[in-house]
Amino acid sequence: MAYYAALKHLHLTTIAVTFTLFVLRGVWMMADSPRLQARWVRVLPHINDTLLFSSGLALAILLGQYPFVDGWLTAKLIALLAYIVLGTFALKRGKTRGQRTAAWIAALLVFAYMVAVARAHAPWPF
Ligand code: HEM
Repeated sequence: MAYYAALKHLHLTTIAVTFTLFVLRGVWMMADSPRLQARWVRVLPHINDTLLFSSGLALAILLGQYPFVDGWLTAKLIALLAYIVLGTFALKRGKTRGQRTAAWIAALLVFAYMVAVARAHAPWPF
């Protein structure tokens, strides 16, 4: 149980870090800031998101609830894919700043949905 609590703590910490970095990078994207290309800005999110994903997977195993078995985890994983795709459009692939900003806002809405799904353990938490 202590192990579960520690993993959940790691999961929540990495969620806070990923959220902060994504908001920051979005602001830099809108401001056309060169900081977006800084090495640590390109590397740190990958390290953090690997920890975020691994801790989520470990929690799922300890909880005995799995994507494609339990609805809320299936919804969360599909939302995660949408968040990743929207995130790459927001920070890289969007052709105009308007497109990138729209993708950034949509990604933040998907992120909020994932938090709500995780808290309610329900695919439709509203
Ligand atoms: C951006 C990605 C993610 C976000 C925003 C997120 C969000 C959250 C939040 C807010 C909680 C705490 C819920 C509570 O209050 O009890 C949580 C717990 C959890 N998450 Fe994630 N998560 C993400 C990725 C993942 C992934 C990829 C998996 C697994 C494949 C996962 C599996 C879990 C599990 C099993 C719990 C434990 C639920 C519980 O203890 O009741 N998460 N997540």
